[in-house]
Amino acid sequence: MKFFIDTANLEQIKEAQDLGILDGVTTNPSLMAKEGIKGDENIKNHYKTICEIVEGDVSAEVISTDFKGMIKEGEILAALHPQITIKIPMIKDGIKAIKYFSEKGFNTNCTLVFSIGQALLAAKAGATYVSPFIGRLDDISANGVELVRQIVDMYNYYGYGTQVLAASIRHTQHIIQCAEVGADVITAPLSAIVGLLKHPLTDSGLKTFLADYKKLNG
Ligand code: E4P
Repeated sequence: MKFFIDTANLEQIKEAQDLGILDGVTTNPSLMAKEGIKGDENIKNHYKTICEIVEGDVSAEVISTDFKGMIKEGEILAALHPQITIKIPMIKDGIKAIKYFSEKGFNTNCTLVFSIGQALLAAKAGATYVSPFIGRLDDISANGVELVRQIVDMYNYYGYGTQVLAASIRHTQHIIQCAEVGADVITAPLSAIVGLLKHPLTDSGLKTFLADYKKLNG
């Protein structure tokens, strides 16, 4: 399973990259705004900086909601760096844009996916990634991880090449559950990723080992 970090914060991206387990980055307009990145040129430069920090795919989201606008914007984003994946929302013109870009050989990430039917359309349009938002589904008392399982099963049944990128991950347990149902990729905040490290028995076990070593070796 690939690990992406879901942030536009450069320090957090560097920290995840330093861990040696990072496969890519996802961003969205809200995450860029959170970092105070505004203005087209600053946004483009920020994407380029992220691409220089990490080795894998970096999702950059279009703002347009019409086909022509998405194509124009997507081409500009893709030209910034070979690692850019064009992130496109799951709307009618978005599906057309994904089809267009997949035929041209560009990587795409179909975002804001909340149903199995939407995931089916994304795969048929040739999306590289489909992003079911599991936390936001859980927020409305639906079952986000169950949707990931259904999409994985359907894609395996039909042999679709689209990778299931579980998004809107809120905590460590979400990552574990996504691994159990066979997600290809998770994108998560740094806190959820480093949360996987933690276990009280590891901490107490290490404390004992070090104390025993000290007893004999001073
Ligand atoms: C995915 O690519 C999105 O950037 C992200 O996971 C959305 O998560 P949120 O529901 O925490 O905003």
